[in-house]
Amino acid sequence: MSAALPRRRVAVLISGRGSNMTSLLAATKDPAFPAEIALVLSNRPDAPGLATARENGVATVAIDHKQHASREDFERVMQEALVAHNIELVCLAGFMRILTPWFVERWTGRMINIHPALLPLYKGLHTHERALADGVKLHGASVHFVVPGMDEGPIIAQAAVPVLDGDTPGTLGARVLAQEHVIYPLALRLLASGRLTVDGARVRTAGEAGETSALVAPQLA
Ligand code: GRF
Repeated sequence: MSAALPRRRVAVLISGRGSNMTSLLAATKDPAFPAEIALVLSNRPDAPGLATARENGVATVAIDHKQHASREDFERVMQEALVAHNIELVCLAGFMRILTPWFVERWTGRMINIHPALLPLYKGLHTHERALADGVKLHGASVHFVVPGMDEGPIIAQAAVPVLDGDTPGTLGARVLAQEHVIYPLALRLLASGRLTVDGARVRTAGEAGETSALVAPQLA
């Protein structure tokens, strides 16, 4: 029997409810998953996701950005917490602070983010409202490496969902969120197991199946 490989130590950074954090926690409960959630960190001490993390026996840290004079001060304290917990990989999951190049560069190739749109479309906020206003037939979610530009960086995984007649930002957002909970654990698994190579803008995935089926919307009844 070969010894199990050490699992990569991951910090999940949140600001709110933490449903993506919960999906990562669930995936990492499998001992075969190549990463473990070693820390959940929030810039908001009242983030509901912190309680969920604690209930799951995960270490938590709240670093209130409002208690720090500058973005740099806040990030330095955050960096110290990550180092103190021997963190190797960082997952941003609804973390609502813009990060400076100083912090981002410390985690190049080791920090990923989930965004509720098919990047490079709809960077920033209110993605579901904007997709509905544009009348697109497909919308979705992306996981990407974090670079200094907001919602930029090589894309690791995407999921597309149809936009249906009668959708509201709420119904469309719920359909997207269900897929976020699928692709974030997938992306972390690929990163933690060393299967990703960044080649310019493209992320190459070792062992990709080469499947070419398409999702077409609308589908007829
Ligand atoms: C998700 O839609 C994520 O894509 C975005 O912020 C939201 C966070 O939701 N970056 P949750 O806290 O993970 O439930």
